[in-house]
Amino acid sequence: MTVAKQRISLGYTARGQFRDFHMRQQRWACLVAHRRAGKTVACIADLVDHALRCPKPSPRFAYVAPYFVQAKDVAWSYLKRFTAPIPGVQFNEAELRVDLPGDRRIRLYGADNYDRMRGLYLDGVILDEYADMPPAAWGEVIRPALSDRQGWGVFIGTPKGRNTFWEVWARAQNDPEWFSAMLKASQTGLLPQTELDAIAAELTPEQYSQEMECSFEAAILGAYYGKELAQAEAAGRIRSVPVDPILPVHTAWDLGISDSTAIWFFQVGREGPRVVDHYEASGFGLPHYAEVLKSKGYTYGTEYLPHDAQARELGTGRTLQETLRQLTGRHPRILPASNVMDGINAGRMTMAQSWFDEERCKDGLEALRQYRADYDEKAKTFRDRPKHDWTSHSADAWRYLSMAWRAMTPPKPKPKPLSSWDRAFGEVEDTDSWRVA
Ligand SMILES: Nc1ncnc2c1ncn2[C@@H]1O[C@H](COP(=O)(O)OP(=O)(O)OP(=O)(O)O)[C@@H](O)[C@H]1O
Ligand SMILES: [Mg+2]
Repeated sequence: MTVAKQRISLGYTARGQFRDFHMRQQRWACLVAHRRAGKTVACIADLVDHALRCPKPSPRFAYVAPYFVQAKDVAWSYLKRFTAPIPGVQFNEAELRVDLPGDRRIRLYGADNYDRMRGLYLDGVILDEYADMPPAAWGEVIRPALSDRQGWGVFIGTPKGRNTFWEVWARAQNDPEWFSAMLKASQTGLLPQTELDAIAAELTPEQYSQEMECSFEAAILGAYYGKELAQAEAAGRIRSVPVDPILPVHTAWDLGISDSTAIWFFQVGREGPRVVDHYEASGFGLPHYAEVLKSKGYTYGTEYLPHDAQARELGTGRTLQETLRQLTGRHPRILPASNVMDGINAGRMTMAQSWFDEERCKDGLEALRQYRADYDEKAKTFRDRPKHDWTSHSADAWRYLSMAWRAMTPPKPKPKPLSSWDRAFGEVEDTDSWRVA
């Protein structure tokens, strides 16, 4: 980095992975990066650069760590190192503040004492390890401090479950006012494989996905599929999965005519289900969904419907199965009624063998990630049943997929002890043994 006009080297060379971040034009930024990626160094360098370039009078910039002692232990030495070459620089050790010529200041804070920042004005702020900060620090104090001068804000860190950092990340990805980037250890190449292996040996697979692969899944309390999805992600099974023109595309449906209907589209390869697409909508009748299937242009196999699709509807006197058959010209199959918890177990086993198309299944995967046990606030325990919310429809359809695809695998050569799935649903030899109404 050089100081504009004076061309003083500050001794910082941005790592390639952080260049886009330094060049960002947006007011807001969210950067999710693995441990030891160089987040703190990049933040401090970014602040120094902005402080030197800011055209406004008396610019003020802040770096916030979760704890003041952290700011002192880690960031302070970087800040001093990068500003030391600037003529006229002054360090205030007690306040962790650097004063640069032209009344330009950079100061370090801890979110453990965010009240200290009340009443300030700021031109830019970086919140490092935002996942560990109390949400009120931003909303109550830091955000208002940016208003006077239309200052900018950066949220940076390593994930810690679906907390407020995740919310910022989720928002940043789809908002043009935000810069967003995720740096996973498997992609950055910043740490050698031997080092990654050594780190992996110290952590559970879930922790490793969180710390090094930027997974937000690890800590969703009560999540049914967190571990399986994290494993699928780590194993590279969530990726681009092309639709194989040789294989039929089957669909598994959760039907909610008055609310949401969710549909998973899948093919069954030797390696397991290839989940190629997902669709969910609400407030439509079956003709809409039949039209969606048609518009996707796949060559369809079988539609799998839940047990209640056999019930006759008031009004038409027909079953949903019959209506869908009329609309598609194909014969949908009805899955046997099943216990939800057994279905979730089947869902987990299926997930362990499934490949997902990252783009087309994005929303469905999000629902599966967040599908979780209902929490009893009074007893402070999880109930033995899922929480009913927006995730339920895709999660139910996933249970149906899990029942359906197993029926398509070839019969096992050797007899085996009955699994809990088989005990729950009956042992299935082939597709013909399914009850077809
Ligand atoms: N641009 C750079 N050039 C050279 N070394 C760097 C650079 N960025 C970071 N490093 C070095 O990499 C190491 C990790 O940097 P840093 O502390 O910024 O990472 P981090 O992502 O904040 O880590 P943590 O997850 O532990 O907070 C440090 O030893 C630091 O000096
Ligand atoms: Mg750091």
